[in-house]
Amino acid sequence: MFEPSVIHIDRSAYANNLAFLRDRLQGARMCSVVKGNAYGHGLSCFVPMAMDAGVDYFAVYSADEAHTLVSSVQEMPDIFIMGMVEGDALEWAIANGVECCIHDLDRLDKALTLAKRTGKKARIHVEVETGMNRTGFDPAQVPMVIDRLKRHADRYELVGLFTHFAGAESRSNDERVLAQIGRFASVRKHFEAAGLKARYAHQACSAGLMNFPDTVDGMARIGIMQYGFWSNQESWFRYSEANKVMDDPLRRVIAWSSRVMAITQVSFGQYIGYGSSSEAHRDMVLAVVPVGYAHGFDRGLSNTGKVLVHGQHAPVIGIVNMNAISIDVTDIEGVEKGDEVVLIGEQGEHRISVSSFSEMSEQLNYEMLTRLPRDIPRILVDQP
Ligand SMILES: Cc1ncc(COP(=O)(O)O)c(C=O)c1O
Repeated sequence: MFEPSVIHIDRSAYANNLAFLRDRLQGARMCSVVKGNAYGHGLSCFVPMAMDAGVDYFAVYSADEAHTLVSSVQEMPDIFIMGMVEGDALEWAIANGVECCIHDLDRLDKALTLAKRTGKKARIHVEVETGMNRTGFDPAQVPMVIDRLKRHADRYELVGLFTHFAGAESRSNDERVLAQIGRFASVRKHFEAAGLKARYAHQACSAGLMNFPDTVDGMARIGIMQYGFWSNQESWFRYSEANKVMDDPLRRVIAWSSRVMAITQVSFGQYIGYGSSSEAHRDMVLAVVPVGYAHGFDRGLSNTGKVLVHGQHAPVIGIVNMNAISIDVTDIEGVEKGDEVVLIGEQGEHRISVSSFSEMSEQLNYEMLTRLPRDIPRILVDQP
């Protein structure tokens, strides 16, 4: 092993999560959201695994992610670029049948022109701005969009009409989300009255699927839950209460581990690492682990984080360095150079969850996962 740490991707945990989601989707198609390097799971490792499990539709944010995805697979799945695709990238997407989000007239016009030039129909999803106030056509622009689409009916395939909820995971946003659902329904009606019926009118992300299941009509864009996480704690509590279940039906797909690189003895009263944030309160044995903030181990975990060694919790001592942390193994017998250190995942009876890790470092699950560097090797495993 040359790398300071590795990430294991658990195929059987993924199959478990897919089965749960398919049950909820009730026949609707799942578009697997793999932006942000498949939420840190590693696009090139994750997508072929998901395809082996039967997933055939993926959403990325940008054309470069779509390009990486295409080069990671043997057979081309359906791919939807939900965000950034301009210029040459738009031409590449259209020429290769990659689906593109159309959120303004400029992109719509360019897509229609490129479709004519390449002789390939642009596969488009028209985004409607319903209340997120990020991207998409304002309902007032809809007549212009419809007009262009009607004039160039031979240049595109209307794969989707869609919107994105501004926080379907929290009840406190319900009023806003319900208003979004209402606006979307009205735009959809306009489209259909003009004879423009998209293959999918899609709105739901993970929290949409769980908390607004009626919005799933043919397809849902599922990110965080396929990786084994709830959108937030509230969504899990809602599910567990409504279904009277205590055990989480989802399993985490990701685990992250490293190895002890060195053992250091520190005498009582000595300072540990940079500065004076930590002083040995007794004679101590520390293990140095070659993972630091450059590898996604947040500096906020200085003197607060925990990892697992020999199946026991070992606290992070001192400041998280760029490339290393020191952990207290004084009370863990026999720790040696080369022993496995679990940063996220299970060892023995204990577990470091992404949420505990991200709570300790004040990051969201989403943020912590997507910040895991791309160059940590991702290795497929099957955990029973
Ligand atoms: C447009 C869009 N759809 C779907 C998703 C997936 O959301 P989630 O990971 O909560 O399922 C996202 C994620 O942010 C998104 O931006």
